[in-house]
Amino acid sequence: MYLGIDLGTSGIKAMLVDETFATVGVAHAALTVSRPHPGWSEQAPADWIAGAEAAIGALRRDYPQDMARLQAIGLSGHMHGATLLDASDQVLRPCILWNDGRSGPQCAELTVRADFHGIAGNLVMAGFTAPKLLWVAQNEPAIFARVAKVLLPKDYLRLWLTGEHVAEMSDAAGTLWLDVGRRDWSDALLAATGLTRAQMPRLVEGSEVSGHLRADLAERWGIPRVPVAGGGGDNAATACGMGVMTPGTGFLSLGTSGVLFAATASYAPNTGDAVHTFCHAVPDTWHQMGVILSATDSLTWLAEITGKTVPELAAMVGDDVTAPAPVTFLPYLSGERTPLNDPDATGAFLGLRRATGLADLAQAAMEGVAMAFTDCVHALRKAGTPIEAAYAVGGGARSRAWLRIMASATGLTLLEPEDGDFGAAFGAAKLAAACATGDISARIFAQPAVRSEVVPNPELAAAYAEKYEIYHAAYPHLRDLASARAK
Ligand code: XUL
Repeated sequence: MYLGIDLGTSGIKAMLVDETFATVGVAHAALTVSRPHPGWSEQAPADWIAGAEAAIGALRRDYPQDMARLQAIGLSGHMHGATLLDASDQVLRPCILWNDGRSGPQCAELTVRADFHGIAGNLVMAGFTAPKLLWVAQNEPAIFARVAKVLLPKDYLRLWLTGEHVAEMSDAAGTLWLDVGRRDWSDALLAATGLTRAQMPRLVEGSEVSGHLRADLAERWGIPRVPVAGGGGDNAATACGMGVMTPGTGFLSLGTSGVLFAATASYAPNTGDAVHTFCHAVPDTWHQMGVILSATDSLTWLAEITGKTVPELAAMVGDDVTAPAPVTFLPYLSGERTPLNDPDATGAFLGLRRATGLADLAQAAMEGVAMAFTDCVHALRKAGTPIEAAYAVGGGARSRAWLRIMASATGLTLLEPEDGDFGAAFGAAKLAAACATGDISARIFAQPAVRSEVVPNPELAAAYAEKYEIYHAAYPHLRDLASARAK
């Protein structure tokens, strides 16, 4: 038995699988995001522990015998969050999350202080951890002065589970303090942020043991003191669950954020177009990805402000999309990473008419997200990673209409995996198995069988190519208007 725990933005998921990776049980606990100011996004780390306790408690209650046979735990979580601890491991302030844009001004400052592009292999972007720490240093200096350790969100769960400060490579790469090619902390990049190696957790690979379950928790849950694997940032963990470990087929994730992910055999950074280049969760492997900040979140937002549910909006669009919506949507509700690197980018509907209805807006929202993915396909191609096919995962991938729109807009063939749950919690369970068995081969990280393929429809693709011209041209104008107004 292996347990994968994924700390997601909207909830925690704990998944128990057997030695054949068949699901034994799944438990969830909801989480909320607090937005105390426009552009801010925070969570209280205590809520993660309460959520994990609840989810693990539910599994323990429903599957006590299976839990007693547990061999290892794997962790996954939303990336880049800054969890700041004092010398007695007390949390100093709410965690600043991956989709928090407050540190935009700090990015330019950090960029010139050290060779972030060369060593970290990534642009200094507002969602990443390093600029957040500079923001804290400049805006909350008393807190910054007390920072003894900076942990990523899932690594705070690890501290609770094992009592150890440990990070693993895939998530650590998203801090901007890792020398991503050498897979070690960079003293130069830490110094540029006013930090030292002593404030960083110890590093392991995702498939290695990071520590063992604390005796008191093991006793309380009636399970052995099993090893806890390094695990992975949620995207690398998802890739482990889908067997995306080598170049070729990637995955496209339609979650709160949207990700187009491809594995690379070597460290191949390309900071142009805000492509992310991170370590994978197994040794000697890296990956590239394009990240958009509001994917399903765009529909969630539209549902919230119209008093509908997301399924109601999806039903208005229907399954059979034959032509683009007459309205164009820019999904930059939380700024944008790939390819814009602009935390201040804003969303927009263009082309509204008296006859425009909510169904048009809902379809436009799906199409706007698809156009943002088209930008990611272009960015990865320019970074030397041609991608033709991708597994489609995440909540949004359950919408047939959205997948059709997505395939036709991006030109990608989207692969629907066989029935099953291949998300980050599943990948974390696989990393648990890798750490317990020492096997990191395709036997563990197998690709799921493909149930169906969604291929681009030539007519719709031609129509979306025209619509993409409007989409692509709109952002620079809106940015210029916004900056003219700010002056
Ligand atoms: C990746 C990123 C997001 C979060 C969401 O760079 O910021 O995908 O990991 O969970």
